Amino acid sequence: MSKIKEQGMKYNLYSWSAQKKINPMVVSKAEGVYFWDEDGKKYYDMSSQLVNSNLGHGHKKLIQAIKDQAEKMAFMGPGYSVDVRSEAAQKIVELSGLEGAKVFFTNAGAEANENAIKMAKAYTGKWKIFSAYRSYHGATFGASMLTGEPRRFIAEPGVPGFIKYDGPYAYRAPKACNFKSEEDVTAFYLELLENQFLYEGPDQIAGIFFETVVGSNGILIPPKGYYEGVRALCDKYNIVMICDEVMAGFYRTGTAFAFHQFNVKPDLVTFAKGATCGYVPLGGVIVSEKIAKIFDEKKMYSGLTYSAHPMGCATTIATLDAYKEENIADNVAQQGKVLAEILDDFEKKHACVGQVRHIGLFSCVELVKSKETREPIVPFNNDAEGLMPKIVGMLKVEGFSTYSHENMILVAPPLNITETELRDAMKIMDKVLDSVDNMIK
Ligand SMILES: Cc1ncc(COP(=O)(O)O)c(C=O)c1O
Repeated sequence: MSKIKEQGMKYNLYSWSAQKKINPMVVSKAEGVYFWDEDGKKYYDMSSQLVNSNLGHGHKKLIQAIKDQAEKMAFMGPGYSVDVRSEAAQKIVELSGLEGAKVFFTNAGAEANENAIKMAKAYTGKWKIFSAYRSYHGATFGASMLTGEPRRFIAEPGVPGFIKYDGPYAYRAPKACNFKSEEDVTAFYLELLENQFLYEGPDQIAGIFFETVVGSNGILIPPKGYYEGVRALCDKYNIVMICDEVMAGFYRTGTAFAFHQFNVKPDLVTFAKGATCGYVPLGGVIVSEKIAKIFDEKKMYSGLTYSAHPMGCATTIATLDAYKEENIADNVAQQGKVLAEILDDFEKKHACVGQVRHIGLFSCVELVKSKETREPIVPFNNDAEGLMPKIVGMLKVEGFSTYSHENMILVAPPLNITETELRDAMKIMDKVLDSVDNMIK
């Protein structure tokens, strides 16, 4: 074992792992869509790390912005007006298209969601918060309560008032649904949601969270009309609509924010990851005018030592400029089309691929034992044999780095990937899926 790994295993606690069961790769270099291990082996970063390295590694403009800001003023408390603090907020509001909105900056995504919860409560004076079962909203205590999937369990019984709903997922809807059209799917899930609102008491419900496009839990893209219907329900019952765009924001789906793909304006939008592409941490909440206004007179009970950290804000400005200068939206449109064709082909040709879902450069491959029964390749929250880590390991051996969740493999490369890089990387996945086809025979 190399010295770096030995030291790491002795002193670090690695996320979401039984420490004796992991073997963290020692990374020695990262550039563009690639990184290298200590033996010089090269990997395609096909998950953009944790879907945050949207502009890949070693981006000169971002590095320069960090250097310049560190020289000029590395830190100033959040109560002061600082040029980069003001400019970053303006740029984010303008990018969101939410006129009159303001930004409350945090360190990262979970904290953004924590503060969105408090704002929804402050705005409505109500207390219950809805979020989807198939969701991940972060690992702080409140964000863990929002999270619907099993990473929530450690925080339970937790805080009262966090209610879970079933978001649209036609592929795994109850068999009896037998949907005939996308409109049927929308109508079903909206009816389910309204019933749940009624039984939880609309006068108790402060807010409802959505990952605008569900990320880690399987790239679930809402059916046509779903968000319009949700918006109408939120207006009807005075419930704050909160889009968590921590993963889906900043061009991941093709548009600046994922909610731009749908005909809705959320009341709160949380963001992080792609705001700085991971070069330094930064997150925040875009607070719509109607909610921001209540804090004109009423005290906002939110604050962090590092809120709107100048290093983060300077990096955000450089990142947003780079997205524009490098025509990232166009590249996502072009490469997203290439990726979609490749994935659709995988769904047809590979016995182990139940369904692929994609929007922009945000996609996943859902693995099954049988296309007919749709039985997942591993049982829910019980991959005792470690089959999914094994498949991810097979990809890694071939130089394709990504991660899996339940029976799904995520494909979300940096947004500046070229067509050649994308096609080459996906050839690796094709080959590994051939082996998985054989494993389920
Ligand atoms: C949709 C979503 N929300 C929130 C978070 C939490 O963000 P962070 O890890 O920056 O706290 C994540 C992290 O993956 C996420 O995907």
